[in-house]
Amino acid sequence: MKPPPPRTRLAPGAGTLATAARAVAAVAAEGRSADAVLAGISPSPERAAMRAVALGTLRWYLRLAPAIGALLARPAFELPPPVHALLIVGAHQIEYSRSAVHSSVHLAVDASRALGHAHLAGLVNAVLRRFAAGRAVLLARVDADMAARTAHPPWLVDAIGRDWPGQAARVLEANNVQAPMTLRVDLQRGSAPEYVRELAGADIAARCLTWRDSAVELIRPMNVADLPGFPEGRVSVQDAGAQLAAPLLDAQPGMRVLDACAAPGGKTGHLLEHTPGLAVLVAVDSDSARLARVRANLERLGREAQCVHADLRDPRDSEALRGAPFDRILVDAPCSATGVIRRHPDIKLLRREDDPAVLAATQLSILRSCFARLAAGGRLVYSTCSLLRVENDAVIGGLLASERTARVLAWPAAVPVPPGAVPARHGMQLLPGAEADTDGFYYACLEKAAGTTA
Ligand SMILES: C[S@@+](CC[C@H](N)C(=O)[O-])C[C@H]1O[C@@H](n2cnc3c(N)ncnc32)[C@H](O)[C@@H]1O
Repeated sequence: MKPPPPRTRLAPGAGTLATAARAVAAVAAEGRSADAVLAGISPSPERAAMRAVALGTLRWYLRLAPAIGALLARPAFELPPPVHALLIVGAHQIEYSRSAVHSSVHLAVDASRALGHAHLAGLVNAVLRRFAAGRAVLLARVDADMAARTAHPPWLVDAIGRDWPGQAARVLEANNVQAPMTLRVDLQRGSAPEYVRELAGADIAARCLTWRDSAVELIRPMNVADLPGFPEGRVSVQDAGAQLAAPLLDAQPGMRVLDACAAPGGKTGHLLEHTPGLAVLVAVDSDSARLARVRANLERLGREAQCVHADLRDPRDSEALRGAPFDRILVDAPCSATGVIRRHPDIKLLRREDDPAVLAATQLSILRSCFARLAAGGRLVYSTCSLLRVENDAVIGGLLASERTARVLAWPAAVPVPPGAVPARHGMQLLPGAEADTDGFYYACLEKAAGTTA
């Protein structure tokens, strides 16, 4: 095949593909999170398009990479990572975007020059042309393997299949579908139906959810800053499934509440909106940069919490945690985030098979330390955005095995169960692809038997 002629000016759009390829390479080759990589890219008119290309490519990376690999004469790792990523970006544009094939190839060739690898422009051209011409056959071969067809790592397909055999196929499919943009309305400042009417007045289509009074789902995602009431904190962006933590905790005015793993503060804000007049809300996180985001979020909402930087596994307590026990504790534990893959497709590339078990040990240790701070008769809600039993029911089982005073509570009648949620041994599992169309979450409600010391 003839090499493409050298060019001095790059086609418009080539820079977008090049930046997207750099971002994909940072995730795939360096193991960085897409959020961190994309946050570091300076604002430009092309930023939204670049972000969509990068996230779309990451979503389908594990399907497209083997198809591209089959066309390479040398192992992929011998290519500079941004060029390998550019081939996958190009394949994504050809297979999943509405752009014409020839223009996708043309832009990718120019993007290789923008990446400083003009000498590989011929290779990019040849590989993407062959992909475009033979993709039906190439992808049919790849699709024979379920993990590759659904663009998930094999260990995760096995784990989801083992834990949720009846729902696994739907979960894997839903993980590759873009999630709705859902808002939480501050019910102290107006109802969800009122806000939907306000949006309609601004030509923004949205709907309320039957099972969550604070949730409003936008029909089309949009820039948050353009939402009426967002700058002054009347609404926040939060998946409807995440809006269950505050009602499940059922804090009452005058109570001492601990939000144990608080950052970036989505649930902290909701706890404060849900129950005005708390005696105190202590928001703890072990990551000081993330804790700063809690403060910023609360500032926008016009709410206050006592933000504490502490590792809850550390027996040397911070002063704020040393006082009276807490009446309510939310443990929104760090987890594999396998329930939020549809919003964070990079998770499929970043997580490793042994991560869930390692995380489970951390989760149990945080849960034990928090349970020790719970008042007798108090309630603790344990939540994760993991789909895996090892991080959910098994962690609760671990606490119950060592804490005589811990009891599992039934799902409170006052909180409607999201349609399609699956009762687990100790809690409730929300799965992507279920009728409620939420992210994947696990919730368990625990109580410390009354009449025991904290
Ligand atoms: C799932 S995120 C919490 C999300 C948050 N609740 C929200 O709704 O916005 C888990 C948090 O736990 C924090 N974390 C991890 N290990 C911790 C520990 N040992 N002690 C306290 N916080 C920890 C992480 O920094 C992370 O911010």
